[in-house]
Amino acid sequence: MADTLTITDNRTGKQYQIPIQDGTIRAMDLRQIKVEPDEFGMMTYDPAFTNTAACRSRITFIDGDKGVLLYRGYPIEQLAEHSTYLETAYLVLFGELPVKAKLDVWVKDVGNHMVVPEGIKKTIEGFRHDAHPMGMFLSTVGALGTFYSDAKSIADPEARRQHAIRLIAKAPTIAAYSLRHTTNSPLVTPDSALSFTGNFLNMLFKLTELQYKPNPVLERALEVLFILHVDHEQNCSTHAMRGIGSSHVDPYSALAGAAAALYGPLHGGANEAVLRMLKEIGSLQNVPDFIKRVKGGEGRLMGFGHRVYKSYDPRAKIIKRVADEVFEVTGKNPLLDIALELERIALEDDYFIKRKLYPNVDFYSGLIYQAMGFPVEMFPVLFAIPRTAGWLAQWEEMLSDPEQKIARPRQVYVGSDRRDYVGVESRS
Ligand code: CMC
Repeated sequence: MADTLTITDNRTGKQYQIPIQDGTIRAMDLRQIKVEPDEFGMMTYDPAFTNTAACRSRITFIDGDKGVLLYRGYPIEQLAEHSTYLETAYLVLFGELPVKAKLDVWVKDVGNHMVVPEGIKKTIEGFRHDAHPMGMFLSTVGALGTFYSDAKSIADPEARRQHAIRLIAKAPTIAAYSLRHTTNSPLVTPDSALSFTGNFLNMLFKLTELQYKPNPVLERALEVLFILHVDHEQNCSTHAMRGIGSSHVDPYSALAGAAAALYGPLHGGANEAVLRMLKEIGSLQNVPDFIKRVKGGEGRLMGFGHRVYKSYDPRAKIIKRVADEVFEVTGKNPLLDIALELERIALEDDYFIKRKLYPNVDFYSGLIYQAMGFPVEMFPVLFAIPRTAGWLAQWEEMLSDPEQKIARPRQVYVGSDRRDYVGVESRS
């Protein structure tokens, strides 16, 4: 017999057999539960979607209790050790690790698309000199769609592939140019001899040298950080990508919305917030007082806690290792000791233990980025570049899922009953 859930409605005494599939019941199966035949029927109420699956996905698996993260079945630790960002992007987008010939074509395709249209450079020039790079990034990604006449051709798989290549390839260029705009530096054309991350460093940091040579340790560290940030199943920005994309808008507009969701300090803006917090704490002796204030409800320990992970975020473990390698080259970030002390105290403190709050991906990544020479405002952009691949994979999966439609949650209306309009002169 198929698994079912029996629901008894105490209002009517009626029983309902609701099928269970993959540990879930379908919310629409509850609609039959009603007292009067003309009633709307039962809905679920789940603010912030804490217990609602909105899709079936084959992309990313997370076991939050065990601290497991898999992309298409492959453990994040193995990908971080052996893969590259572009190979992982291919895996996440297309479902399998590419054979050599396919990987070569993919890497070449992306490399060939890193240049942005002249109009995009002008768009970036139009921002104020002190504009936040993430604000520039998300607006420019949206603007990018207006340069392609086929941007709206989302029903054509080949056009979708081209959009994916363009967005993955141009994300680092837009990011680098946004930063260079704030320092009034000339824009650097991508160099086809460099890797994806090497090229990004080139476009950011090249000065007058004929050819920029990235430090291999920093280039690989950035590669690993990019791999760790490719996808993370149905988080706030991915949900935005799917939700906006479900209206069948072009992927550039949907991705601009996803990047906007990522910008917030509770999501991808957390790495920036961590650095500001560490700076504000200032020294080791202020750590206990800061923890006390967090426990008293005065703000949060940024870079701690996660909706899904109730143990150590596996990405944070890898990042801690990468930090050691980077600091060997750059010298230790002086804020590291404060971060380590915060972690030490928090992991022994009842408040954090009871709530299962552990360091997440953002706790240490900012320290690495800062040591590598990135200004704090660039941190969310550094999250958005690799997440572009994840957003596109989720968008592709959403569009090809016959069960998906335009996203349209329900609400429980708790406002006024119907009432008549009163002219301004008669209102009290
Ligand atoms: N510092 C102090 N207390 C916290 C923290 C924190 N960082 N995170 C959660 N709590 C407490 C919270 O106050 C609540 O306590 P109580 O039960 O007494 O009200 C309890 O833990 C549960 O918190 P919640 O807000 O219901 O948890 P959530 O799943 O809605 O929030 C979160 C998840 C990531 C937004 C939250 O942990 C947070 O704000 N963390 C800091 C920001 C941060 O680091 N964000 C990056 C997330 S990882 C990267 C990404 O994917 O974006």
